[in-house]
Amino acid sequence: MCGIVGYIGNEEAVPVLLNGLKRLEYRGYDSAGIAVLGQAGLLVRKSKGALPSLEDKIASETGQGGLNAVMGIGHTRWATHGEPSDINSHPHTDVSGKIAVVHNGIIENHAKLKAWLEAHGVVFRSETDTEVVAHLIDFHYNGDLLQAVTEALKRLEGSYALGIICESDPDRIIAVRKESPLVVGAGQGENLIASDVPALLEHTRDVYYLADREIAVLYRDRVEFFNEDGQSLQKEKSHVDWDAEAAEKGGYEHFMLKEINEQPKALTDTLRARLKNEGGTSINLEEIGFDASWAEARRVVIAACGTAWHAGVIGKHAFEYFAQIPADAEIASEYRYRNPLSDPKDIFIIISQSGETADTLAAMRMARKAGARIIAITNVVGSTLAREADLVMYTWAGPEIAVASTKAFTTQLMCVYLIALQFGMLRGVIAKNELTSHIEALEQLSGHATRILSAQENIQRFASRQFNKTKVFFMGRLFDYAVSLESALKLKEVSYTHSEAFAAGELKHGPIALVDTSTLVVAICTQTALFDKMDSNIKEVKARGAAALVITYDGVDYFDKTADEVFRIPRTEDSLTPILSVIPCQLYAYYCAVQRGLDPDKPRNLAKSVTVE
Ligand code: G6P
Repeated sequence: MCGIVGYIGNEEAVPVLLNGLKRLEYRGYDSAGIAVLGQAGLLVRKSKGALPSLEDKIASETGQGGLNAVMGIGHTRWATHGEPSDINSHPHTDVSGKIAVVHNGIIENHAKLKAWLEAHGVVFRSETDTEVVAHLIDFHYNGDLLQAVTEALKRLEGSYALGIICESDPDRIIAVRKESPLVVGAGQGENLIASDVPALLEHTRDVYYLADREIAVLYRDRVEFFNEDGQSLQKEKSHVDWDAEAAEKGGYEHFMLKEINEQPKALTDTLRARLKNEGGTSINLEEIGFDASWAEARRVVIAACGTAWHAGVIGKHAFEYFAQIPADAEIASEYRYRNPLSDPKDIFIIISQSGETADTLAAMRMARKAGARIIAITNVVGSTLAREADLVMYTWAGPEIAVASTKAFTTQLMCVYLIALQFGMLRGVIAKNELTSHIEALEQLSGHATRILSAQENIQRFASRQFNKTKVFFMGRLFDYAVSLESALKLKEVSYTHSEAFAAGELKHGPIALVDTSTLVVAICTQTALFDKMDSNIKEVKARGAAALVITYDGVDYFDKTADEVFRIPRTEDSLTPILSVIPCQLYAYYCAVQRGLDPDKPRNLAKSVTVE
């Protein structure tokens, strides 16, 4: 996600801010900007694209020098509201240009706040959710920036890390966070803020970690802390021993592990962005243009590649189950060369983390030619897919750095479920009270994912015993088969183990010929009505010498006698389990790669974004 830096000290601020932003580049971004306070007042410079374009812009007016300022804030933006552009880049300012704000997170009630501010005469310049924060602080500003910020915070819903400076309060930076990261660096005669420790390390290794809703006020020579009501707080300083590379990964050994562990937050962010609370919680897709006309579709066709296609396979089941509408999941590279019989009454859902995969875009353009309407599910605002689709539903996973997709996958599933449920509602298949309980189940998934992650040592231990297996088969039925496909792919991608997925009922039609004592079979068993069928399949592979790991619900002892090991996940609706059951499989792939001495973040021969055929 976005990166924030802030500096107050005695050095020229521009190079300090730009260097700090460089250290945050790993977070992914599409534009950058700074605001500095100096002799010329508050100056804002921002630019779409990578940091060199911002550097060039500043250098073209100053040569290699700075802007004669010794304090400022900077930001690398990863677009969420509004496409990457100079205007949407941060910092954002109030109308008079005296207050500047950088933000990481999502202001969930930004639309309401915007309408309210507009009614008070504020004219907005950007499409961002962040701009409301600058105007809101200005609205409450009465000569005391800290007080204005605490007043503004009372109105903000959602997640935020904020860095704020004000021309008429020129000796301090105010920073605050809620559910988005922000650290304060305590230097000698200088203090800093940053989204992450690497941006501070050139200046200091002494840091304060802010808790949710804590406010830091940075002066040159000291930092003061307050709670959200403006009462003073004492905080303990910490010393950072990690090197810069470890710090970029937030203390995790690899981005893949970091991203697996980010799933609870990514799931909450993706879900929250699409719920509304008006007389009970319901799904809000009207905001992205999904009205009743979409539900008149004859069929839903989902097209994608790789992991995104697996999300599509689960989507097919979800549409049939929740909306009772015919649905197909198509591999985009196959679809584009077939002569598919599509109809203008088909709806296409195109799933792509990057929004740039060549085959996926080709499938979308074919669907478009056939007259179909297109929904995009993507993680990248302003991507080609987002621009060309009729309607876009963004995943709120944040940038995914590791090549193997994890958090993008589970957030794609969250989007697919939301659309399927809304379809079901609009088609009269799901009653209001049923929808409420499905939404409650979706809301619980993030907490369930946290519980699974808290037991990751069990998977690590299992991987340390099994990583040398030369054949690993994943099997399951219905939703569990789809998760098997993704799990086998994950293991292949990062550990180079020969792994395959089988629909468990197909086992005896061929695959069982491969099973011997060198085989590990991972049986995903969350479809309650099919437990006995799965148990028989597990017995069949065990009889041929395979080791069997079962993934099933807490409290289910059905497989205890058959399996060598059982890994349990919290209970949810059988149709929603993929979001949970895939997590132990992601962890298994990760730990096998590590045990084999491989770098899971950069698997051989693979690319994160496949923009050529
Ligand atoms: C590549 C990546 C996969 C991804 C696939 C589709 O193969 O390595 O992780 O699933 O492309 O990418 P997309 O960006 O369209 O989801």
